[in-house]
Amino acid sequence: MTAPVITIDGPAGSGKGTISQRVAAALGWHLLDSGALYRLVGVALMRDGGAPEEEARAARLAGQMDVVFEPVGERTVVWLNGDDVTEAIRTEVASAMSSRMGAIPAVRSALLARQRAFAQAPGLVADGRDMGTVVFPQAPLKIFLTASAEERAQRRHKQLKAKGESVNIADLLRDLQARDERDSQRAVSPLVAAEDAVIVDTTGIGIDDVTERVLLLARQRGLA
Ligand code: C5P
Repeated sequence: MTAPVITIDGPAGSGKGTISQRVAAALGWHLLDSGALYRLVGVALMRDGGAPEEEARAARLAGQMDVVFEPVGERTVVWLNGDDVTEAIRTEVASAMSSRMGAIPAVRSALLARQRAFAQAPGLVADGRDMGTVVFPQAPLKIFLTASAEERAQRRHKQLKAKGESVNIADLLRDLQARDERDSQRAVSPLVAAEDAVIVDTTGIGIDDVTERVLLLARQRGLA
């Protein structure tokens, strides 16, 4: 029997990352931040001196890169080929690059087995865009988080400000909408809710309430 999986998909800024972390911690389950893998491919390609158009090179790096997610207290330190890239994968440049990488079919297939390997006992919370549709279609609980683009841009603005980065909110909204557009229009694994996903609109709802809602659904399905 493979381990049970809860998939949490949705657009950038929908709260997926935080909610997935909280749910995984509450259940004592593993966590897969699949977006980090696409970010890692982008950073690996930039470090290799490659351009986003070089699809075969990106796919080769996606297959070869040595990645370690190291939990340190509340945070996760991310290692790429022995370098700490925790911050480097979160920059705006890396964000834009990651959605270019996500549109390359060969990159997506190179990452598939790596993602499925995270499904280990006692269970996995998988955060991404296609967790419920492509990577873990058999998951017993699928959540699709949404929120208005304005609220998502505001959340991102707050996060960046807390890190001391000053970014114009109008620019953030524009980048976020461009990323949404690319993620939902691409031919392979576009961002869509799985047919059997529970859609949760988080606009105006706090993290604690959303987490509780997901945990309640998990209990109702006998997962917790
Ligand atoms: O979730 P995060 O914002 O870190 O994801 C970065 C990018 O990686 C997304 O914009 C998307 O293009 C891509 N991605 C994807 N499939 C996933 C997770 C992320 O295509 N499962």
